Amino acid sequence: MVAKSKKNVSKTGIEKKVERIKTGISGLDKILKGGMPKGSVVLVTGGTGTGKTTFLSQFLWKGLQDGEKCLFITLEETPEDLINDAVLHGWDFSSYQKSGKFRIDFFDPFELGDVNARLKDMIAVNKFTRVVIDSTSLFGMYLNDEYKIRKKLFKLTQDLKDAKCTALISAEIPEDSKTLSRYGVEEFVVDGVIVLYYLGLGEGIFRNLAVRKMRRTDHRHGAFPLEMSNKGIKILVESGIL
Ligand SMILES: Nc1ncnc2c1ncn2[C@@H]1O[C@H](COP(=O)(O)OP(=O)(O)O)[C@@H](O)[C@H]1O
Ligand SMILES: [Mg+2]
Repeated sequence: MVAKSKKNVSKTGIEKKVERIKTGISGLDKILKGGMPKGSVVLVTGGTGTGKTTFLSQFLWKGLQDGEKCLFITLEETPEDLINDAVLHGWDFSSYQKSGKFRIDFFDPFELGDVNARLKDMIAVNKFTRVVIDSTSLFGMYLNDEYKIRKKLFKLTQDLKDAKCTALISAEIPEDSKTLSRYGVEEFVVDGVIVLYYLGLGEGIFRNLAVRKMRRTDHRHGAFPLEMSNKGIKILVESGIL
């Protein structure tokens, strides 16, 4: 007989159920054994063009389909560009914007100020349950002291957890990076880390996704092929671990 992991079994022997949400990324919920634990703060990291922004948009689109209130904070592209790009994937955020279910705000990376307080208020007042921030790498534009950046990112993660929303924060890392995050602190404080890889070989592009960490759940390990199309991102779980 296979012994059950003690971690998931309470004193009464009843399995503790982790509440999960569907990510909307085809195949990923299977890798996460049923979805992302609700209330997690997850770092989505990878080089440029690996699909981070698309991943974040797709996650919020699923939230809207599931009746959640969603917030997109962008420090890179303009809200207009993001909304127009999403339409190409069949995701019409503008209709949800009008009904107040979706909000997209541009935070100027040179004028961040007390970004944490602003965000906390916004989430509390509007009761957003899914939040994405694209990207935290831009924090370095406002704060040039690595200690201050780390402190801000640490606090940001804590604030998102306190707000009880499920959040994705993206970070761009150099292609050959040895660390999972930009400032070397994010991966320790977040609940999960999802890494997107891109390999260009001649005319071919090979994209992969790996879940490097996800608290409160078991998950499949290794890199899985990631496909990008006009329908967004799809993870090919069944084609095997690379
Ligand atoms: N319809 C599509 N079909 C295939 N690939 C696409 C499509 N739309 C965008 N892409 C790919 O996605 C990339 C951009 O993804 P994006 O999410 O902006 O990446 P990141 O935020 O990591 O820089 C483009 O460089 C392109 O290779
Ligand atoms: Mg991007």
